[in-house]
Amino acid sequence: MLGLFDSGLGGLTVLRRVRELLPKHDLLYFADQAHVPYGERTPAQLLALMRHNVAWLDQAGVDAIVPACNTSCAMALEFGWPATRAPVVDLIESAAIAVERSGLLRIGVLATTATARSGAYRRRILERVPFAQVVEVGAPALAPLVEAGKLHGAEPAQAVAQACAGLRDVDAVVLGCTHYPLLSAHFEAYFGPYVHLIDPAAVQASRTAELVASLGISAGEGRVQCVTNGDLERFASNIEALAADLTAAVRYLEPVSG
Ligand code: DGL
Repeated sequence: MLGLFDSGLGGLTVLRRVRELLPKHDLLYFADQAHVPYGERTPAQLLALMRHNVAWLDQAGVDAIVPACNTSCAMALEFGWPATRAPVVDLIESAAIAVERSGLLRIGVLATTATARSGAYRRRILERVPFAQVVEVGAPALAPLVEAGKLHGAEPAQAVAQACAGLRDVDAVVLGCTHYPLLSAHFEAYFGPYVHLIDPAAVQASRTAELVASLGISAGEGRVQCVTNGDLERFASNIEALAADLTAAVRYLEPVSG
C-alpha cells in the first residue's frame, strides 16, 4: 500500500497520476482538512503538521510515502524528513527533475506563500539546473478557491490572472502547489501556448512507480481509501466531482490540534 497526504483536495491530482501508473496498488490518502490552507501557516506549525501526517501514514503500515503537498516538502528541505520505516518520495525533487527535463531556463514557480518564502524550489532547481533563473511567487488565494469548489468561471480566472501577474518573461511555470492543476484551464488561458506549464505530479508518479519496482512493493487490489479530518460529506462529494473515475472508500479521522 502507498500513502499520500496533502492539506486537502489538491493531492488528488497526484493520486490520480499514481493510480494511472499503478492501478493495482492500494492507495491511502490523508487530507488534513482540519488545517487547510497550509500556505499561510508558520514554518513551526507546518513542520508539526508534516511530521504528524508522515507518522500517521508510516504507522498505518504503508510501503512508501508519497507526499502530495509541496508546502510540506518545502519544510522538509529546511528541517529534514522525520525518520520513517517507509521511504519518502519528495515532490519538490520531482518538480526539479521535471524542470531539468524541460531544458528550459527561465522558470516561474507559483506556490503557496509558505513554499515561495522558503526558497525550496529555487534551491532544488539550481541543484539540477545551475544556470536557471527562478522566480518564486506566492499565490494565497488559489488553494482556498479550490477547497471551496470554485473551479470554473470568472472568479478563479481573475484569481489566476492576479496570481500570475508577477511571472513575466518566463519559459515555463511550475504549478508548485498540488491544488493548482485543478485550475489548469485558467493557467492555459492566461499564459497561452508559449509558456510551458509543469505539473510535478507526472514525475512524482513515475518516481513512485520506479521505487515500487526497485523495492518490489507488491500490488494489492487497487483499493483507494481517502481519509479526512474535515467535513466528511463535503470531502466525499468533492472527490466525486473532481475525480469521477475514482472509486474510493472515504472516512473521517479525529483531528490533532495545531
Ligand atoms: N496543496 C498544498 C501544496 O501543494 C497546500 C495548499 C494549502 O493548503 O495551502 O502546497
